[in-house]
Amino acid sequence: MERRSGTKAQMRLARISSHMLSSSCPPQGLKMGGLEREPTRAKGAAPGFKVAVLGAAGGIGQPLSLLLKMNPLVSTLHLYDVFNTPGVTADLSHTNTSAVVRGYLGKDQLGPALDGMDLVIIPAGVPRKPGMTRDDLFNINAGIVRTLIEGVAKHCPHAIINIISNPVNSTVPIAAEVLKIAGVYDPKRLFGVTTLDVVRANTFVAEVIGVDPKDVNVPVVGGHAGVTILPILSQVSPKFAFNEKEVEYLTNRIQNGGTEVVEAKAGTGSATLSMAYAAAKFGEACLRALQGETGIIECAYVASEVTEFPFFATKVRLGRNGVEEIFPLGPLNSYEREGLEKMKAELHGSIEKGVNFVHKPKSS
Ligand SMILES: NC(=O)c1ccc[n+]([C@@H]2O[C@H](COP(=O)([O-])OP(=O)(O)OC[C@H]3O[C@@H](n4cnc5c(N)ncnc54)[C@H](O)[C@@H]3O)[C@@H](O)[C@H]2O)c1
Repeated sequence: MERRSGTKAQMRLARISSHMLSSSCPPQGLKMGGLEREPTRAKGAAPGFKVAVLGAAGGIGQPLSLLLKMNPLVSTLHLYDVFNTPGVTADLSHTNTSAVVRGYLGKDQLGPALDGMDLVIIPAGVPRKPGMTRDDLFNINAGIVRTLIEGVAKHCPHAIINIISNPVNSTVPIAAEVLKIAGVYDPKRLFGVTTLDVVRANTFVAEVIGVDPKDVNVPVVGGHAGVTILPILSQVSPKFAFNEKEVEYLTNRIQNGGTEVVEAKAGTGSATLSMAYAAAKFGEACLRALQGETGIIECAYVASEVTEFPFFATKVRLGRNGVEEIFPLGPLNSYEREGLEKMKAELHGSIEKGVNFVHKPKSS
């Protein structure tokens, strides 16, 4: 009897350990103190995609990982961070959805975290505090994104990459340069996630016109910071003729939605729950397209030739290889054309700053 419960406990430990690939846990298949790591895939789990979240223990990373664990398109979920991944992984592994979740802690485990991934989502880095712009985060987050993308280039060069870390206007060009240097750059597979701007736009517009937000679709173009965020309210679906005051109010609120949250959180961080929702939504769109579903259109910040900017957010059609088609801006009214002019200096500057960061010596 005693022996039987001892075996049961051993089996349970083996199962728990298989979720945690930290330095104290040897890779799958190795024995640990007489325990064989057990496969943790639930019986009957559907085949699906392998997704890694880098920065998984953070304010965005945790709820995003939960939403991905609930997504039936995800079969394997790798959680990487420099902090607390064993805890987050153990916690998430108790949810009875079929995705297998494994944790990876610290830079030595970046490789195993990335091996064989189909989609890599990156919310690693520091968030804003009141009074800071997204650009103020550049010095810390630029280096983090460079290191993580070097890992992607080495371990899963064909993965679709979703970058959330700010300033997105610069971190996406940084990623592109790093991938170019590694000889694996495919502009179709690299995305800056601007979905939160669209999610906010849809919510705020729905409040003004009095409909369900899920029925609203506002294209948001440009970049992902202040004036570079340009909602194209003249193209809203369902069609609606906003007056001047409404256009002014909505444009300002959408451009400053991030600051609204940063100020309300009073120094404790920036948008996390709405961002996790937006990232899960965009990640799912990428996975559905990878699976072969057609007609998936989302706004995203990508390498683009539809304007003078080398990176620009517009509507893109997603496919098995990432970006399948980039849509032109379409007809703009004078307010929107003016908005496009206003973003010029900032967006060009942020892109150039990202590119230059990669090409300066690492130590300076
Ligand atoms: N794209 C958007 O719309 C959008 C919206 C909100 C926030 N953000 C950005 O997302 C980022 C994360 O925000 P948050 O609120 O989750 O911050 P957070 O501080 O709560 O979490 C960040 C996580 O990144 C981890 N991290 C730091 N360095 C790392 C490294 N080298 N490798 C792996 N992980 C590392 C930290 O340990 C932490 O767990 C910030 O840059 C923020 O500005 C983007």
